[in-house]
Amino acid sequence: MPITTHLPRYPLAFLPTPLHPLPRLSELLASSFQPPASNFQLLVKRDDQTGLATGGNKTRKLEFLVADALAQGCDTLITTGAVQSNHCRQTAAAAARAGLACELVLGGQPPAQPNGNYLLDMLCGAKFHWTTRENRLNRLHELANELRAAGRRPYFITYGGSDPVGACGYAAALEELREQTAALGVVPDAIVFPSSSGGTQAGLVAGAWALGWNVPILGISIDESEAELQTMVAELASLTVARLGKPHTFAPADIQVSADYLGAGYSVVGDLEREAIGLLARTEGVLLDPVYTGRAFGGLLDILRHRPNRFGKPVRSIIFWHTGGSPALFAYAGELV
Ligand SMILES: Cc1ncc(COP(=O)(O)O)c(C=O)c1O
Repeated sequence: MPITTHLPRYPLAFLPTPLHPLPRLSELLASSFQPPASNFQLLVKRDDQTGLATGGNKTRKLEFLVADALAQGCDTLITTGAVQSNHCRQTAAAAARAGLACELVLGGQPPAQPNGNYLLDMLCGAKFHWTTRENRLNRLHELANELRAAGRRPYFITYGGSDPVGACGYAAALEELREQTAALGVVPDAIVFPSSSGGTQAGLVAGAWALGWNVPILGISIDESEAELQTMVAELASLTVARLGKPHTFAPADIQVSADYLGAGYSVVGDLEREAIGLLARTEGVLLDPVYTGRAFGGLLDILRHRPNRFGKPVRSIIFWHTGGSPALFAYAGELV
């Protein structure tokens, strides 16, 4: 029986998302391996195509979060993020789909010219509250109290939808991927993706445990040290498997993370991101984003070019999980070309 069948789910995504090879880029990379590889395959799992207001990884989490909000009789989704938050944009769109209101606490100042995700938040009817980056979670708690005092029923969604309810979306996603790899006859040496608030990775780790699938799951950290991210993901994965009815306690050392690509900090676009975004667009016509997938794909390219044995000897099949984010490309135009 599928591992999340017993949990309430509100359909928002077009599933399954495609899993497809990147033949031109795979060949290019394989020719640079020492010795060159003849049968190396890089594949991409297209969660940028989940379909909700341009898609992305939060849509899978929101299927479980919105179902929980409706079950609790809530009337408003509230959450927080950066001005260009993909999570906030998908939350605003999910609220619209479910007939709920959406209020967002954003860090910083309202931009003079709405663009990218912030523009899409507006189009989806979200209401905004501005504060400093450090104060966002406090302000979100305050907002929940203000709305309750006004007779509303807010549903509180933490950073990135990364709680045990949301993470179940990625446990279900791993099951979807396992079926796709089995149908294609692919045995992945690793699954690689950006990891930030940890819900995607926790869900994948929880799903692998629940399914008994021993596949390496490597999160490329976007903004946390290796130790912090491992601890966060281990705790969240432990809570998530409990929801799946397969209890287990993960230790930080069970979680595979690389924090080698933090660059100059969160959302600062450097050569690593620029090269990765340009290379994938030019060779395969696939668009990454400047903050998350650009950094993670840049990290993956670096590992494949300089340490391919990290994934197996010889490395054969790697899956890059594309978690979305392309609307932010437009807000970062000046830093990309
Ligand atoms: C495009 C994209 N990729 C990856 C992530 C990171 O996912 P998680 O927060 O579940 O670690 C985010 C989070 O905002 C995102 O927007």
